[in-house]
Order: sequence, then structure tokens, then C-alpha cells
Amino acid sequence: MTNSVNEIVNVFESADKPYSAMDATTLQRAIYDLRLEQGSVSPLSQVISETAELVARNAIIVQHPDCIAHLHTPPLIAGITAENFIAAQNQSMDSWDQSASATYVEQYITDWLCKQFGFDEHSDGVFTSGGTQSNIMALLMARDWVADVMTGHNIQKEGLPEYAPKLRILCSTKSHFTVKKAASIMGLGEKAVVCVPTHQDGTLILAALEETLAQLKEAELIPFVVVGTAGTTDHGAIDDLTAISKIAEQHKIWFHVDAAYGGAVILSQSKHRLAGIELADSVTVDFHKLWFQPVSCSAVMLKNKTNFKYLLHHADYLNRESDDLPNLVDKTISTTRRFDALKVLMTLRAVGSETLGQMVDHLLAQTQQVAAMVTEHNEFELLAPPPLSTVLFRYVGENIGENVDEFNRQLRVQLLKAGIAVLGETTVDGQAALKLTILNPCLTLNNFSELFEKIVKFAKALK
Ligand SMILES: Cc1ncc(COP(=O)(O)O)c(C=O)c1O
Repeated sequence: MTNSVNEIVNVFESADKPYSAMDATTLQRAIYDLRLEQGSVSPLSQVISETAELVARNAIIVQHPDCIAHLHTPPLIAGITAENFIAAQNQSMDSWDQSASATYVEQYITDWLCKQFGFDEHSDGVFTSGGTQSNIMALLMARDWVADVMTGHNIQKEGLPEYAPKLRILCSTKSHFTVKKAASIMGLGEKAVVCVPTHQDGTLILAALEETLAQLKEAELIPFVVVGTAGTTDHGAIDDLTAISKIAEQHKIWFHVDAAYGGAVILSQSKHRLAGIELADSVTVDFHKLWFQPVSCSAVMLKNKTNFKYLLHHADYLNRESDDLPNLVDKTISTTRRFDALKVLMTLRAVGSETLGQMVDHLLAQTQQVAAMVTEHNEFELLAPPPLSTVLFRYVGENIGENVDEFNRQLRVQLLKAGIAVLGETTVDGQAALKLTILNPCLTLNNFSELFEKIVKFAKALK
């Protein structure tokens, strides 16, 4: 244990780049050369050193100031410490007899979370592996709910009803792709997802939502859920949640909020920007994003906890009804499940929700400053104003040539391969864009000006 901590510290202390720049094929070969036959085992201390040298040194160093691509945070020490307890004790959250104290920790944290988001005692939540699972679970419960309330049809027992091909999920064109993934997993197909256009800033156009709902009903289709996003992955846009909730209520459809990215804003001075989230039927929150927790750590909350019944299945060995102990398996699609709630408990105890909120405030303010730096820079073009903590931009220096999109795509991948910077890449209004996702509260503006210098120097030399 001490060995591995020392090795990790060494890796961090000597990491002068966000990626070692080892050629990808060479790296793959080196990993595949690790012998797995029983005869080639080594003492653990040697395996630790080999892991540090080969795996850790050639990983993406998320703590490095020039690693700024994804919603992938440097984790807090409290969360990392919790991982030691989680791994060593290996509790499984499906049943009380595999977790005891851990069951109460998770329930305590989800109760706390529900309160933060303005839900009352009728609400409840459960931890999941990530925003993807949280969204899938929420949409699955919405699907089973609509069949239940509309026709008394029990999808759990009977499978999809004959009107399933008519079911529709509404979201914006900027919603996360897992909405479509959920539809496909749920047997409705991607065709069930109707994407409503957004404003320039990435927020859903409310009039378009109303119009789409009217058109779907006119076509005798069955819209049953609308997804609002609190923090779209690229723009960081936060939809008008209050307005969407009113439309959902008027049409008697489920309202899900994907707050995987923006959920932590609830702890910040900008909390008012999530107004209306308390009106949602379900909410996704990712702790492994702006709550600075190690992967994986997410939760899904329901305003009305009785809707978890759509996930309840009995197993004689697990959640029998003959004792009075709580078994969290009743509320999830998982069985064996990690004790991720401990990371949030230990972080709240050691760091505190106020400090977490200040970290978010700091990142939001810094993002505005970084966007201003991009605007002032001759070689860069800012592609959208940043509402949360992403900066969408591109390189437009003199040597760029005809194909600006291709140049920027090449710039991103070559910077990565050279280990100089790990930047995000996406598309904004059909144009290739570079993306900074600012999730490291330790960075200063100086770090950003140095990063910009490195990008420009590299771009100028790029053929
Ligand atoms: C808005 C949004 N929702 C959902 C997800 C999926 O979350 P995860 O990667 O934790 O599964 C992401 C991931 O970036 C996201 O940005």
C-alpha cells in the first residue's frame, strides 16, 4: 500500500506533460507484452513498480494544467481516501447483509442530495455508475410509469405494450447522446427520440418544444417524457427548467433533468440558475464531474419515490420480504454495486458543501476570464459564450490554409500525441471546435496563457 502511494506520488511529481507522448502502437505493444501465464507472476512490489512505469506514466494525467479536454476532474484527496476504504472493505450495495453501515451512508447521502435539490420527504435517490446509467434508469421508469398510468399496462411483467412504437421522448438537439442510447436499450429505438432545436447559446427553444408536442399529438404519437439539460456537454447550457416543467405538467408528461454536468451549481452562488429543478420528476447528478470525485460516482433522484417500484424485482437470496432491513437493490438496475456514496460522505465531512460551492463559483468566474483571453487572442476565435465551464474556440492563425476544420482537428490530435496538451474537440454549428473543459480549481490564468502559447507555437509549426 505504502509502495503504491509512493509510486503514484513519483508519477505525479515527475509528470511534466499531460501525456507521456509514447507512440500509441508502442504503448499497446508494451501492454500486450505483459505476460499473463501463471508461470510469469512477479512479487507484488515488482508489479507495483511495473504498473507505475508502464501504466501510470503513460496514462492521461488529469491533474496536469494542460489536460483540459473532458468532464474528467482531478479528484479530491477525500474522495481518493474513500476509495481505499471502498476497495479494501469491498461492500456491495445490493443488500443490507453485504453492506450494513454502507447502506445507511448511501441512504443518508441520497436524502441529503434530495434536500439540496428542493425535493421533499416523498423523494428518494440511489447511486449509479454514471450519468449514462442515471439517465437510462430515469427514462426507463418514465416509460414504465406512462404505460401504467395510461393503460394499467405492466411493462416489467408483460413487456412493451402494442402502442410502444408510438412512444416519444423529447429533448434538445444538444442533449446528451445517452438519451438516444436509453431509448435504444429500452426497446423504443432511437427513432423514439425527438430533438427540439436550440438557441445559439445551446438552450432548448421553448416555443419549438410546444410546437413539437402539438405536432406529435396531432400525429397520434405519445410523447411521455421531456428531458431538460442543466449543463450540456459542449456549451454548458442550462435549459429553462421552470418553463419546461410547466409545459411537462400541462401535457401530463414526465420531466427528467440531466444535471450530470451542472448539478453541482446547486451548491454555488449561481444556484438560482437551476431554478425549476425541484419540479422535475427525476434528476441525474454526476459527482465525478463538478463535485471532484474519482470515477465512478453518480446518482439519480426521483421526486416521487414510489416510482422506484418499476425497478423492483425479487430474488430469494437477496431482497426477501421476511426481514425489516433495507436492501438498496430494490431501487436500481444493478445488483452488485460499488459503495461510491462514501466518497461524497467523506468529502462533505472533510471539505464541506460550502467549499465545494466556492470551487464551482471560482471555475465559473475563471471560465469567463479564459473566454475573454481567447477573444483577445489574434490566433483564436471564440465560438460561443460560455454559460458554465467550457470554452469553445478554434485556431485561426495565418498558416491555417483553406480547411479550418481539418486544421483544428489535426491540431487537437497532434497536440495529444505529442503530449503537449489534451484538448477537447467537438462541432459547433457544423464547424470543428476545440474545447477547454475547466474543472481544475488549482489552475491560474497564467496556466491558461502558457497553454495558449504552447498551442500557438505548435500550430504554427504544423504542416
Ligand atoms: C450532460 C451529460 N449527461 C450525461 C453524461 C454521461 O455521464 P457519464 O459519462 O457519467 O456516464 C454526460 C457525460 O459527459 C454529460 O455531459
